[in-house]
Parts: sequence; C-alpha cells; structure tokens
Amino acid sequence: MSGLGIEIHETAFVTSTFRSLNEDLSRDVYAKLWNNSRTNVLVKKYLNQVCVEEVSAHCLRNRFFLEEIEKLRPEVLINFGSGFSMYPFLLDQSIINIEIDKKEIVDYKKEKVKEFQNQEELPKRTIHFIGVDFSEDYVEDLLKRIKAIKKNKTSFILIEGVLFFLSRNDTDKLFDFFSILQKEGDYIGSASFQKGLKKSEGFKKLLDFCNKEMVKTEASDWQTIEDGFYKENKSYDLINHQDYFSLSKKYNNEVKLEKDLILNENFYILKK
Ligand SMILES: C[S@@+](CC[C@H](N)C(=O)[O-])C[C@H]1O[C@@H](n2cnc3c(N)ncnc32)[C@H](O)[C@@H]1O
Repeated sequence: MSGLGIEIHETAFVTSTFRSLNEDLSRDVYAKLWNNSRTNVLVKKYLNQVCVEEVSAHCLRNRFFLEEIEKLRPEVLINFGSGFSMYPFLLDQSIINIEIDKKEIVDYKKEKVKEFQNQEELPKRTIHFIGVDFSEDYVEDLLKRIKAIKKNKTSFILIEGVLFFLSRNDTDKLFDFFSILQKEGDYIGSASFQKGLKKSEGFKKLLDFCNKEMVKTEASDWQTIEDGFYKENKSYDLINHQDYFSLSKKYNNEVKLEKDLILNENFYILKK
C-alpha cells in the first residue's frame, strides 16, 4: 500500500464532502452529515493535487440528477453504487428507494441513517439497502430482490461516480441487467468520463493521484466511456446529454480554470 491508501469505498465520503462545500449549488443539505477528519485530509490533498473545481463539478452533478428525478417522477429510484448520496431525503417521500453498493457501505449507511433519524437530523423515508459487488456474480439474486420491491412500478436507475472504477465487462453486464429490470418508459441516469479527456492535463493529474494514493483492485483501470456506448444502446434512447460546461451555464456556476485542467464529466439520461 502506498500514499494515503484510499480504498474505493472511501471515495463515497469524498463525494459527499464535495457536495457539502457548496449546498446552494448541490441542493444537498444533508451531505455534511458524512463529514469526518480523514476525509477532510483526502479532500484537501485531492483539490490541491488534481483540480480545485471538483467541488463545483460534484455539486452540479448532484443538482442535475436531483432535478431530473424530480421532473421525471419515478415511483422507484434505484441507485447503483449509491455511496453516501442523499437523494431519498431530498426527494418526495412517496418514492421507494433502493440503494445498492458494497456491503460495508450499505451496512454502515443503514446504521448511521437510523441514528440520524432517531436524532431527527434526517426525515423518515422508504429505503431498501442491498450489499452487492458489481465485479462478482450477482445477477439472479439481485434481480429477485429488486423485483420483489419494484414490482411493476416505474423506475429511474442512477449510476454516478462508479463507472470510472469498473471494467468494461462489468459495465456491460450492469447495463444488460438494467434492461432486464426496467420496462418501457423507465429511465437511467449515468455519469462518466469520455476517452478524449485522457489527453488533458486534468485527467493526467487524476490518474497520477489515483495510481499513487488509491488501493488498486483488479478492475481499476480507470474506465472512460465514449458517447457511442449510450447512443448505440439497443434498449434505450439517449434523451439528454450534459457536461460540466453545459451545467455550469444552466446553474450559473462560474468556470474558473482553463478547459485542459478541468475533469469534464458527462451526464446522460436514457429512456427505455
Ligand atoms: C465516488 S463514490 C460515488 C458514490 C455515489 N454514487 C455518489 O455519487 O455520491 C463510488 C461508489 O462506487 C462504489 N463501487 C465501486 N466499485 C464497486 C463495485 N465493484 N461494487 C459495488 N460498488 C462499487 C463504491 O463503494 C462507492 O460507494
């Protein structure tokens, strides 16, 4: 283990801290509940060494998906690699939430959410937590568990901040799984980096940081995904495509750094 030895699941704390640093932009008033001293050290180092504008980037991502889900009004929100995101508490209480992540994350989140609710720091919501590793064999069991909750209801599947850490095989398997799970008219929200970004100074800094400071797993080849992956999907139509720059315009965020230094993430809404 070298550097800070950041484990993949710890990145979920980092994302939440970013969201808490500009609540007006993220609209996530609960992200701060996950703040802790180790994450503050990681965040400071990451912002210094990779890109200071990552705070705005993560806040805009949260804002965009939150407002898309509000607009599309699914009955069930299924969040793959949900980490410590707080959509269930920011959205209408009638929504049924299914949160899927590594077992250690969902177990910890479930316990802490209960604690926060007992202390009246979080409102009550319907949330089903499911522990799964996307690099393992999960299809049959997970399908059964989700179907038992979702039944014939409309759904929105969210996968953000996750695909960078997965292999292409595991990604293809997940999107095939989404298609089995969803019916016509259902939605997917996905976030990923495009291949072209690999040439940029910002992405080089990101890879440098990840290679030095993160504990590697088998699948960590830091995945990028081309638009074609979404555009050419046989079961879904791409109905909305944004990136950091378009969302900055939409939500009046001032872009401060030059383009080459920014980790420009792309955001996609697909409809079955
Ligand atoms: C950067 S965090 C993003 C969390 C959340 N989606 C958000 O935006 O706040 C990445 C998440 O992906 C999860 N993850 C990464 N690889 C995974 C895998 N193989 N199986 C399940 N979850 C995984 C991590 O545990 C972590 O919670």
